[in-house]
Amino acid sequence: MIDQMDRDTNVYALVTGGSRGIGRATALRFAREGWGVIITYRSRADRAEEVVKELSRLGAPLALSYKVDVSNEEDIIKLKEDLEKKIPYLNVLVNNAGVINSGTIEEIDSSEWRKVIDVNLTGPFLVTKHLLPLLLRAPWASIINVSSIAGQTGNVLASVAYAASKAGLIGFTKRLAVELAPRGIRVNAVAPSFVETDLVREFIDTPEKRKRIEELHPLKMILKPEDVAEAILFLADPNRSRSITGHILSLNAGRYT
Ligand SMILES: NC(=O)c1ccc[n+]([C@@H]2O[C@H](COP(=O)([O-])OP(=O)(O)OC[C@H]3O[C@@H](n4cnc5c(N)ncnc54)[C@H](OP(=O)(O)O)[C@@H]3O)[C@@H](O)[C@H]2O)c1
Repeated sequence: MIDQMDRDTNVYALVTGGSRGIGRATALRFAREGWGVIITYRSRADRAEEVVKELSRLGAPLALSYKVDVSNEEDIIKLKEDLEKKIPYLNVLVNNAGVINSGTIEEIDSSEWRKVIDVNLTGPFLVTKHLLPLLLRAPWASIINVSSIAGQTGNVLASVAYAASKAGLIGFTKRLAVELAPRGIRVNAVAPSFVETDLVREFIDTPEKRKRIEELHPLKMILKPEDVAEAILFLADPNRSRSITGHILSLNAGRYT
């Protein structure tokens, strides 16, 4: 195997929404690889602090958290300015932060539509755009976007806004992969079905509801955040996936419709 990673050179990864759920599991997985990890969060500073402590305990050479609303361009510019003082480059960007809503098109109004699109789709655009100079400075770099089965099939419990935001992220991934390939950056996405996190807690908070969701999947399971973290690490690490770009990796326990 060609080792694209110089083991003496630090690797730096940033995970948006790293304070809880999939983002937290991904940040911890990266720390176990010995990577420096930066997480962002929106409001739960207590949870972010707990993750930073855990990252340090796992031996991450760098563990930082920033309060950043990914739909707020000023927050992202401040993040970039501060990161430029702290790290020489960024190897891995995981656009994970996201929100969900449900309800029919008649039930959701334009402000709910905009909020979901702003966080889930415009957020990754803004974060990627502003952190790109740091990624371009790295010896190798990779971007992973966290899409969803909701962007691939209409047969989900979330709203049209959520489905549109996650389908948009798939188009963003494919186009950006082509755009950045000549500059040495790979861009991929994961598209999970149900993952056991706060985001979907209301859909699985009784044994009956949980069973109903499990039954939707041929493998009869609900994913753990660690399942997604492992796939993100695979796509992030050039020693594991150097030939893969523009790919949408479905993590759906066999559910394709
Ligand atoms: N769970 C699932 O079944 C599932 C399935 C497919 C895809 N996904 C996607 O996976 C990603 C992570 O979801 P999760 O289930 O881990 O969710 P979660 O447990 O609710 O965690 C969401 C994370 O995103 C952060 N966040 C929310 N809004 C933000 C904003 N405007 N700016 C910055 N950060 C923000 C939260 O920060 P605070 O802690 O400060 O609130 C938190 O760290 C999302 O993009 C979601 O759509 C989830």
